[in-house]
Amino acid sequence: MITITDLRKVYRQGSREVVALDGVSLSVAKGHIHGIIGHSGAGKSTLVRCLTLLDRPTSGSVSVDGRELAGVSDRELLSARRKIGMVFQHANLFDSRTTAENVAYPLELLGTKRSKIKDKVSNLLDLVGLTQFANAYPSQLSGGQKQRVGIARALATDPDVLLCDEPTSALDPKTTDEILELIKDVRDRLEITVLIITHEMGVVKKACNSVSLLEAGKIVEHGPISEVVADIDGRLSHALLPLPGEMPQDLPPGTIMDLLYSGADAVHPVISTLARQFDIDVNVLAGSVEDLGGAQFAHLRIHLPVGVDIDAVTAHLTASGIAVSVKEA
Ligand SMILES: Nc1ncnc2c1ncn2[C@@H]1O[C@H](COP(=O)(O)OP(=O)(O)OP(=O)(O)O)[C@@H](O)[C@H]1O
Ligand SMILES: [Mg+2]
Repeated sequence: MITITDLRKVYRQGSREVVALDGVSLSVAKGHIHGIIGHSGAGKSTLVRCLTLLDRPTSGSVSVDGRELAGVSDRELLSARRKIGMVFQHANLFDSRTTAENVAYPLELLGTKRSKIKDKVSNLLDLVGLTQFANAYPSQLSGGQKQRVGIARALATDPDVLLCDEPTSALDPKTTDEILELIKDVRDRLEITVLIITHEMGVVKKACNSVSLLEAGKIVEHGPISEVVADIDGRLSHALLPLPGEMPQDLPPGTIMDLLYSGADAVHPVISTLARQFDIDVNVLAGSVEDLGGAQFAHLRIHLPVGVDIDAVTAHLTASGIAVSVKEA
């Protein structure tokens, strides 16, 4: 488990101060995969540098399984870093080392015995499905295979947390899915905590149990996937379950409403019930239905004609467990 408490990082540029992290707090349980999503400049790389102790936070704490990392002395740095295994966007392998030698590298740094390194590397290559490529050099591997080597190397020191910085941004969609499946498989087998820093919502949808939205150094929304999706006015909800298409221009007068509902509700005939109950025509403008965070969610945009009692419709829908957002009077 990793706990980040009120983490701040202020850079000085001459007389100017840049607040890159502005009080970030976050806790991810053992065996969970947490996504941190944010636009350029949000502070993602700064957070990675503070977690891997490449950069010292200005204040705040980072603890892994109860051990404080942020304030360790330089002497303890190497052993503290072992707690967090790092996977990079471009696997960052040594070109002159084979697959097995790349995975062995962190163990060599720790002075591990040769026989122990051999066994460990062999187990890790088995875990990531690269046993036949043990003696290949990075130039002989595909992007996905290189990333597998990167994951095996990150796991070599038995970390408690796997920190992945844009692990699939350089990969095609099929390879992205394979790497995300591997990360989930590793999590299941090793019961490790995983943090994935990304700008791709698809990664969050496919791999994460929970997500945080980082903006200007602050976490502005966070929670389990099924909870953040259910917040109809939330930014993460809009990004996770977007409505396809533009708002139509030439609609007759009336009211536009967005509806969001989940679980068993998603298979209920919400629209036909509404039409019958209020004896009105309901025009569906856009919609999407997806499995997210283990539940099915539906997001619909509907148009109701002039004269409909919007308050009564809203009350009826809300009473049925449907979130409503009235867009346009
Ligand atoms: N060494 C530094 N000195 C001064 N300012 C910095 C330094 N590193 C980052 N910053 C500033 O901190 C803020 C956050 O930067 P950071 O690199 O963490 O963003 P990011 O979310 O990783 O963006 P991107 O998606 O573009 O990589 C930015 O305003 C950036 O200019
Ligand atoms: Mg960055």
